[in-house]
Amino acid sequence: MKLFLDTADIEEIRTVARWGVLDGVTTNPTLYAKVGGSYEGILQDICRITPGPVSAEVVAEHVDEMLVEGRSFAKLAPNIVVKVPMSEEGLEAIYRFAEEGIKTNCTLIFTANQGLLAAKAGASLLSPFIGRLDDINQDGMEVIRELVGIVEMHDLDTEVLTASVRHPRHVTEAALAGSHVATLPFKVLQQMVHHPLTDKGIKTFRDDWDKARQVVAQTTGSGVTN
Ligand code: E4P
Repeated sequence: MKLFLDTADIEEIRTVARWGVLDGVTTNPTLYAKVGGSYEGILQDICRITPGPVSAEVVAEHVDEMLVEGRSFAKLAPNIVVKVPMSEEGLEAIYRFAEEGIKTNCTLIFTANQGLLAAKAGASLLSPFIGRLDDINQDGMEVIRELVGIVEMHDLDTEVLTASVRHPRHVTEAALAGSHVATLPFKVLQQMVHHPLTDKGIKTFRDDWDKARQVVAQTTGSGVTN
């Protein structure tokens, strides 16, 4: 499963790129609002350091304006994917973008049927929002399971991107459900790295090493301390 970072914060993206686990980035208007500045400038910076797709979301609600926004994003870098909301107008825009060779990520998907429609219209990524479904007491992961099943059974040329991830368990379950991609907030990626026993183990090994080296230094008078 590919791991995307769900952020517009360039420092978070640089950090995860250095870890060697960054496959792509998703942004949205809310994430952009947290950092401010020029959205186009931020997208260009993100595209330079991200090895894979970078999703840039249109805010227009009508097809013609979505097309104008999306075409302008697509010109910024070759790895831009235009993020389009699920709606009647959105489906038409996805279809038109596909005809022009512009890749799209259909966002705000909450049912497998919405995902099926977006796939048929030509979206290369389908983004079901699992956390927001969990928030209203529905099983977000069930949509991932259903949509992955549909995509594979009918050999659809698209990928399921698990979005609205809230915690590391979502990531494990998405991977087990066969999701092709998951997009994660930086905090969730950090939580995946750490475990109390790992962190405690690292400290214990370092402390024991230091103690052993002190004993060696005292016995040999070598002054070796590390
Ligand atoms: C990513 O593409 C989505 O916009 C994002 O995961 C939504 O997450 P949220 O539900 O935490 O806002």
